Amino acid sequence: MGTSRREFIRMAGTGALILGFSPVLGGCVGVTRSDMTSGSTQEVPVPGLEASMAEILRLASLAPSGHNMQPWFVRRLKPYEYVIGMDKARLLPAVDPDNREAILSIGAFVENLCSAASSFGYDAQVEVIGTSASDEKLVKLTLTKTKPSGFPISRISSRRTVKKGFQQNPLSADHTNTLTAVWPGHIFYFNQDSRHAKCLPDWVAESFKYQTSRDDAQRELANCIRLKKSDALKFRYGLTTESMEITGVAGWYVRTFMNNEDVMGTTFRNQGIDQYSAMAKQGAGWIIITSEGNTVTDLIETGRRFERMALMVREMGIAIHPMTQILEEKRWRDQYTSLHRSAMEPQFILRVGYLDSYPDPVSIRRPVAWFLQT
Ligand SMILES: Cc1cc2nc3c(=O)[nH]c(=O)nc-3n(C[C@H](O)[C@H](O)[C@H](O)COP(=O)(O)O)c2cc1C
Repeated sequence: MGTSRREFIRMAGTGALILGFSPVLGGCVGVTRSDMTSGSTQEVPVPGLEASMAEILRLASLAPSGHNMQPWFVRRLKPYEYVIGMDKARLLPAVDPDNREAILSIGAFVENLCSAASSFGYDAQVEVIGTSASDEKLVKLTLTKTKPSGFPISRISSRRTVKKGFQQNPLSADHTNTLTAVWPGHIFYFNQDSRHAKCLPDWVAESFKYQTSRDDAQRELANCIRLKKSDALKFRYGLTTESMEITGVAGWYVRTFMNNEDVMGTTFRNQGIDQYSAMAKQGAGWIIITSEGNTVTDLIETGRRFERMALMVREMGIAIHPMTQILEEKRWRDQYTSLHRSAMEPQFILRVGYLDSYPDPVSIRRPVAWFLQT
């Protein structure tokens, strides 16, 4: 006897809920980064831009950003002089009202740009020109020809945020030393069972739950979720089922039967809370990055150091997952900041852990032509 469509949907729905959005089946793959460069979605050429410059900017844009908003623009002043700025249309006022995360993300973009440029034989001089977090123009960049540095650009193209599959064993002393040396006195590692880290899983879960209950924050999330392949290809920013690691049959179910309005519903919110709370308990521990202050210069530098570290971890088999809600929600931010001395502003709370096998990047990106102003 055949199963009716209604029954099937109910069963698929129940299955997805029971499985808790876990990966189960192969062959049910949502849109990924590799879909962005094939067939009708060929990269958009930028007339008058040297091929190496276009590639440097593309690599820069593989930087991580909150909700994958890609809050940057690049303005070309001369062939080797650029301004990097904050695109005011790509901010997240409900969860990032001070543009702190937008500027950290632009710092990561600058770091990718400098590393890629060095690999192509350019020395990049960076001058922070923004003086307030609401400024549009943040960084001036001047490139001069030099010898290629040998920096492996595969580190940029293979970096990704990972959320699932973390092992519980602590980071090795060697790895800890290498990562904290990226910014001595600012990057700290805490094992999951250390005194400092003990409060983090609970606070992450509580602050996430609170944020999920805020309709403005949830609406912001809903607006940047790309459930349909056509939307992912059209907007090329935001979160896909693959980048949220809702894979297999659960991903298929969400893509097929849910829409952006469902993100505002109780089922999606509660699933998110359960998943996030469970993830916060997994892994080796936490890396915390602090800065001295919150000036544009502090935030750009912090974003750069974060990315420098993020570009190293894949080779060590270490996953990084920013869990930012503690820093976004005032009650938890005040509580957490008070544990630090002055001139020690927590800017990144990163869950870390070893993986058995490292997945390839999947998050989508806009083509260079969309963020470059010539
Ligand atoms: C400043 C900042 C904050 C972030 N906060 C979170 C977060 O709270 N939760 C999360 O799952 N991912 C977070 N991310 C990761 C982004 O969602 C991710 O970088 C983006 O989706 C692009 O994916 P990719 O890093 O794999 O390229 C954050 C990233 C940045 C740079």
